Amino acid sequence: MGNDLIQIANARPPGGAPLELPAGEGLAPSATGIGLGAKTFYIETFGCQMNVHDSEKVAGVLMARGYRPVDSHQAADIILYNTCSIREKAAQKVFSRLGAFRKGSAGAGKIIGVLGCVAQQEGERFFERTPQVSLVCGSASYTQLPELLGQLEAGNRRVTGLSLDTEDCFETELTRRDNLHRAYLTIIEGCDQRCAFCVVPATRGPERSRSGAKIVADCQRLVDGGYTEIQLLGQIVNAWRDPQPAGWSFAELLARVAEIPGLRRLRFTTSHPRYFTSEIVAAIDSHPVLCNQIHLPVQSGSTPVLARMRRGHTREEYLEKINCIRGSQRAISLSTDIIVGFCGESERDFEETLSLLAQVEYDQVFAFKFSPRPNTDGLGFQDTIPEEEKSRRLTALLELQRQIQLRRNQALLGQVMEVLVEGYQPRLGQAVGRTTTNRVLNFPGEPADIGCYMKVQVTAVGPNSLVGSRVLEQGDGALECSGGLTGGQYGS
Ligand code: SAH
Ligand code: F3S
Repeated sequence: MGNDLIQIANARPPGGAPLELPAGEGLAPSATGIGLGAKTFYIETFGCQMNVHDSEKVAGVLMARGYRPVDSHQAADIILYNTCSIREKAAQKVFSRLGAFRKGSAGAGKIIGVLGCVAQQEGERFFERTPQVSLVCGSASYTQLPELLGQLEAGNRRVTGLSLDTEDCFETELTRRDNLHRAYLTIIEGCDQRCAFCVVPATRGPERSRSGAKIVADCQRLVDGGYTEIQLLGQIVNAWRDPQPAGWSFAELLARVAEIPGLRRLRFTTSHPRYFTSEIVAAIDSHPVLCNQIHLPVQSGSTPVLARMRRGHTREEYLEKINCIRGSQRAISLSTDIIVGFCGESERDFEETLSLLAQVEYDQVFAFKFSPRPNTDGLGFQDTIPEEEKSRRLTALLELQRQIQLRRNQALLGQVMEVLVEGYQPRLGQAVGRTTTNRVLNFPGEPADIGCYMKVQVTAVGPNSLVGSRVLEQGDGALECSGGLTGGQYGS
């Protein structure tokens, strides 16, 4: 959801806990290679939550080989960029980063690697365009990372992992989790949908589901390690099917995970309308742990545009799914992704998108101007909408959505909501909480509130966030807090 909105660089947990692997756990420094004794790495991540989580796993693999994370590329022996190519602008970011190493000595003696979607898309061309790069590896080849690192340590100058021909998922026992309270867990990798605008099937490879039993065991370990919120990830998370014969459906998996004692919040993203079933809504209805939140990208409100996009559903079919969600006993918050200015999108098509927004009344919308991408079918269509017109449509759509969100948030004034405190803004003296509906709710608090669940009454609202004050209830002396500095940063 909302790709390339996230950019982390060796992010630290809010409490600033040192990121060390537990003593004696797989810490055998390799006998050869660079900067022995002081082997350090730095990863900068662009793109979606799946990239963020992939970086956590890559960091785990590196730490198991004796590398230590550092906060700047200047201090690192290995510099890795985990890249996003969903839109042209996102893809360009890595080239501007690599430009810093082109001349002079900034990259001297360091290993520079490119991971993720741009790595897969550009492959060995990186070595010609940016000779300072030594490692190019797409996400479908991360299972080979230990071997590739071994080759670099043995002195190989250039190594690649670019095969997409895989049935494997990136399974690793060691993950350096950067968020102490919310744990990401990939349950399905790749995508077979081939939407005409989307680069993901070409960069992340075919769809492959992890086993249900392994997922539940991972979730149990995360809860044992102190996490109270888990977010299950996949490009189409609800296309997950247990690969075991007679395995569980996605809705059954949600129920099994939700039943783990100690888990407080369970989210999942991104759902595709084609695979969205009433069983998922039923699972939400019967398991309070499942959050009141569904992200269901629609991309366009016009059926002819949806057909050209190869989304596999019409406007009406999408609205049926929305009706099913609105029929839930819970007030489920809805968000979506929209592309404006897709090839051939007429003014009338665009107005259909505006009318869909007005009809559904989403709580959040991630909207993008169409950006033609390599290796997609859409590249063969004529990109007919001028850039200024795409910008005009985007601005109009965001303005409509701003009004909708403001109105919906105003209806929440006076309500008391439970938040998980995820951060603290020292300048404002405010704790940053998140509601089950994924809204940000700020209120006067302290740094020690981070990781705790609290009740907060909404006192003011804007289109993008809420403001409130804490409500003390009987028994609140013993607050329920998650994570903690002893918590399981190294779950599966
Ligand atoms: N299933 C994925 C979708 C990844 S792309 C997920 O996990 O969210 C995220 C969003 O980026 C898409 O839903 C779409 O709205 C937008 N997007 C994808 N390709 C695009 C392109 N070529 N131009 C503009 N926006 C695009
Ligand atoms: Fe992309 Fe469509 Fe798959 S948006 S990730 S091809 S569902």
